[in-house]
Amino acid sequence: MSHQLLKGKKGIIFGALDERSIAWKTALAAVAEGAEIVLTNAPIALRMGKINELATQCNAKVIAADATSVADLDNLMQKSMEVLGGKMDFILHSIGMSPNVRKSIEYTNTNYDNFLKTLDISGLSLHKVLQSAMKADAINEWGSVVALSYIAAQRTFPGYNDMADAKALLESITRSFGYQYGFAKKVRVNTISQSPTITTAGSGVSGFDVFYHYAEKMSPLGNASGEDCANFCISLFSDYTRMITMQNLFHDGGFSNTGVSQRLIEDLNAANGAV
Ligand SMILES: NC(=O)c1ccc[n+]([C@@H]2O[C@H](COP(=O)([O-])OP(=O)(O)OC[C@H]3O[C@@H](n4cnc5c(N)ncnc54)[C@H](O)[C@@H]3O)[C@@H](O)[C@H]2O)c1
Repeated sequence: MSHQLLKGKKGIIFGALDERSIAWKTALAAVAEGAEIVLTNAPIALRMGKINELATQCNAKVIAADATSVADLDNLMQKSMEVLGGKMDFILHSIGMSPNVRKSIEYTNTNYDNFLKTLDISGLSLHKVLQSAMKADAINEWGSVVALSYIAAQRTFPGYNDMADAKALLESITRSFGYQYGFAKKVRVNTISQSPTITTAGSGVSGFDVFYHYAEKMSPLGNASGEDCANFCISLFSDYTRMITMQNLFHDGGFSNTGVSQRLIEDLNAANGAV
């Protein structure tokens, strides 16, 4: 169902690894809504992932960029403007990786080199993307940058490890850079705090299955799917959300404002053998 909400708009989508990726679904939705896009991911992900399949479906060019490398990002901005024939209207930052999570190193016994990598890849990279775009004047006025976050930035979910700190940084950069970019160029910057979603990054977090089901039981609307998240991204790229910036927007079926749900209480009662 297309409304051509992004007709005439151009954008860059970071982070499509395979068909489960939120970025993959957003790329398809953006093109269906009339946008022209460039796809990008880290060089290693381009070799291991399936991005070329997506590029064919989206009629899009793929440009490699490690989101921690300013040189790669500067090149990406220039090349994207060449390929798309002008400035961008939207960017999706859909990037997350923690070497500590990957290696199952506990938070209290963290490896600090890994920790810094987590912050760089999953948090600071948003600053680098925004700085690179601003330097190149690559985004049109009223353009929209969206990054993906998780509620562990506000509340503790132990298995989320140092990614929680990276998401807190990501949300802070959204406010700080959003302020600057808003005054300078009327560019909007927001994060979407998404429900647990079954993807490569999501499933890598320890205990993911348990908190996926826990969130499903807690949320009045259930967990928001990857497709729902893609649609929300489209609305934030569109002109219908022109005055939203510097926000962390919960897209979680009501999870963030629910203390406990009756169905979870019933499950716990049943587990405890209560009537
Ligand atoms: N899946 C979930 O439960 C969930 C929930 C809330 C937020 N998020 C966030 O959504 C975003 C997308 O993740 P996903 O769930 O679609 O998983 P995914 O694994 O499909 O996507 C993560 C992407 O980050 C890319 N990436 C890693 N290091 C990079 C680097 N140095 N440079 C450029 N790209 C790099 C990967 O190649 C991959 O494409 C992440 O920010 C994630 O934290 C996910």
